[in-house]
Amino acid sequence: MATPHIEVNDKNKFAKTVLMPGDPLRAEYIAKTYLTDVEKINNVRNMFGFTGYYKGKKVTVMGSGMGMPSIGIYSYELFDIYGVENIIRIGSCGSYMERAKVYDVILATQAYSESSYAKVAFGYPENIMDSNKELFAEIKASAQKLNYPIIEDIIHSSDVFYRTNGNVFEDVVEKYGCVGVEMESFALFANAKKLGKRAACLLTVSDSLVTHEVTTSEERQTSFNKMMEIALETAANL
Ligand code: HPA
Repeated sequence: MATPHIEVNDKNKFAKTVLMPGDPLRAEYIAKTYLTDVEKINNVRNMFGFTGYYKGKKVTVMGSGMGMPSIGIYSYELFDIYGVENIIRIGSCGSYMERAKVYDVILATQAYSESSYAKVAFGYPENIMDSNKELFAEIKASAQKLNYPIIEDIIHSSDVFYRTNGNVFEDVVEKYGCVGVEMESFALFANAKKLGKRAACLLTVSDSLVTHEVTTSEERQTSFNKMMEIALETAANL
């Protein structure tokens, strides 16, 4: 059952809920900071995965890498091969709107994308994929319980970080109302839809394409911690 990307041979090494930051070193940080009885379960390509316990509940954290091709591979294998039921992406995003300030936490309702991922993979013609509604509601409830404000809105999943063609504010923000941009959720949501699983996405705003505010690494860490606590609280309650 090991795959070319994940060296795990036993399904039970994965929890039913996986938190996926883009950066595998974030996965390590989360495991070391928040989980007990941690076991490192994947090393292939340094895409570290860890399974441990949070408030007594088994949870896995594993990196997704950057972009839809990367999260597309890992999340498909987790859902399809390893029996994972819930994936919560915990990432960063750029803000397209002044109301989403750096360090704010966004819970994606949907992801719009120009990507061909859903069409090529599954024949889905839609350019918008939905977050799972139940998982979304669980995450929202966890944020409320912790008293951390969140912005609930549609986001843009882009294949391109360095864009010089066209105007993203005209092409994406005005047309689709996207509050921010990241590079993974559309593929994650498409995989979940195809495989009958649940996926959602929490993001902290790391930079603003409107105000060009800069973040310090310390502030980034604090806001990232809030997002992680929301995701972990959700995992503990599933
Ligand atoms: N673009 C795409 N993905 C991102 C950004 C961005 O500006 N910031 C964080 N993730």
